[in-house]
Amino acid sequence: MEIRHAEFISSHTDMRKYPVDDKPEFAFIGRSNVGKSSLINMLTKRKNLAKTSVRPGKTQTINHYLIDNKWYLVDLPGYGYASVAKATKKGWGKMIEEYVLRRENLYCLFILIDSRLSPQPIDLNFIHLVGNAGIPICLVLTKTDKITKVELQKNMERFEKKLKETWAELPVIFTTSSLKKKGRDEILHFIESAMAG
Ligand code: GTP
Ligand code: MG
Repeated sequence: MEIRHAEFISSHTDMRKYPVDDKPEFAFIGRSNVGKSSLINMLTKRKNLAKTSVRPGKTQTINHYLIDNKWYLVDLPGYGYASVAKATKKGWGKMIEEYVLRRENLYCLFILIDSRLSPQPIDLNFIHLVGNAGIPICLVLTKTDKITKVELQKNMERFEKKLKETWAELPVIFTTSSLKKKGRDEILHFIESAMAG
């Protein structure tokens, strides 16, 4: 599948204001700065469709991008950014939770994880939260241009081992680099198949 047209539709914090149609949605979540917005730009081949920043905490709302008039890519704020005031953090948590747990047309939630890190409690906790709720998920190991193939393989195995402690079935795991445009075809193919049912 190729994306021909990508269009910013809305930026909201309130679930009641999200687009009301029932087109399929594919959303991106993960720790602040993990590369969610960059991945959306990479997939759509648009440099600045989603705003990115070297500083964590850039995306603070739920952003809907309409793709080829048929489905949405959804950019979410990051979780786990320590410098954000507690009250704000709580608010984001609630907004994210409400979206991922209650959005009926969410076809798949892509959970982004920094490929350089060993499994982090904050990511594992989030995976357990949505996994237990029966939300369809995929994992995306990001920024693979920053490590060697061997290191990537090692971290991926550590992550799989950790997940196997809890889950009988592992989610699909993608490895990506927005810098090197790696993982694009694989993710778009997955999205196409998911929409085909
Ligand atoms: P928040 O909106 O703050 O939660 O962050 P985000 O997850 O949307 O991250 P964003 O896409 O803004 O990227 C954060 C930083 O990481 C930016 O400086 C990006 O250029 C950089 N970055 C993102 N993806 C990659 C990648 O694949 N490789 C490299 N080397 N840098 C990346
Ligand atoms: Mg962002």
